[in-house]
Amino acid sequence: MKASRQAPLGVFDSGLGGLTVVRELRKALEHEDIIYLGDTARVPYGTRSAATVERYAIGCANHLVARGVKAIIVACNTVSAVALERLRVDLDLPVLGVIEPGARAAAAATRVFKVGVLATAGTTSSGAYGRAIAACSTRIETIGQAAPLLVPLAEEGWTTGQVPRLAARRYLEPLARAGVDVVILGCTHYPLLFDIIQQEARSMIGEHVAIIDSANAVASEVADFLASRDLRCNEGALGTTRLVVTDRPKSFSETASRFLGSPVGAAEAIDL
Ligand code: DGL
Repeated sequence: MKASRQAPLGVFDSGLGGLTVVRELRKALEHEDIIYLGDTARVPYGTRSAATVERYAIGCANHLVARGVKAIIVACNTVSAVALERLRVDLDLPVLGVIEPGARAAAAATRVFKVGVLATAGTTSSGAYGRAIAACSTRIETIGQAAPLLVPLAEEGWTTGQVPRLAARRYLEPLARAGVDVVILGCTHYPLLFDIIQQEARSMIGEHVAIIDSANAVASEVADFLASRDLRCNEGALGTTRLVVTDRPKSFSETASRFLGSPVGAAEAIDL
C-alpha cells in the first residue's frame, strides 16, 4: 500500500544520539512531521551483540510502523551496521540508514586515502564502514576505533572539560598514528561532543583534519529519497516533532528541547 505524503517520518535510536539527525532533518524538511523514538530503557546498544541489537531494532521499528509512518530513518549507526538488511526485509516501507551517507562524505574528503572511524564496539566489529567506504573507492584504507565511553558521556550531558577531553584523546591516538586526515563520527551520539573531538583531532592530527558528522548528509539523502518517491510533504504548516521514549521521559524532553533549539512537547513513555 502506498503511504501518504502527509504521514510522519519515523526516526529511532537507542537514546539521545539520533536527535543529531532530527536537528538536520528539521532544517532540510521543514513541513514533515517526525516521530522520534529513543529506546532510553535499553541504551547503550553499541556494547551488545548483533542479535540483541537486531531484536531491539525490530521492536522500535514495529512500534513506528504501528503509528503509521511513511518511512523509517535508522538514526543509529549500530543498528544501521548490524540490522538494516533485516529491517528492510521485514518491513513493507522504506528504511534508510546512516552509514552510507557518512562513508560517501568521508571518501570525498580524504586526500591521503586514510579514513578513521570512531564508533561503538558493535559498529566497529561489524566492518560496515570499511565496506561502505570500499564501495566508494578501493584505494581508501579505513581504520576503525571503538569509543564506547563517549556514549554515556553524551547521554549525561558531560560534553566539556577534562573527562571527555581525555577520552577523546585516547580514542583518537590510534587514528592519529595511522595518519588519517578524516575522522567520521560513526555514532550519532558523538556529534554532541563535536567541539571537543574536533579540538583534540586538530591538535593531534593537524588543522587540516576533517570531522564528518553524517547527519547533514543523511538529511539531504532523505529529502532526495522522499522527492524521488513522491512522498515529500512540501506544503502546509511547519512539521511537528513528537518524542517517544522507553524510560525517563521528563529528562529526555528537557534535553531534547535544549538540543533541538526549540521547545518540544513532553515525551511520551512507552513499553516495547
Ligand atoms: N547512537 C547509536 C549509534 O549511532 C548508539 C549508541 C549506543 O547506544 O551505544 O551507534
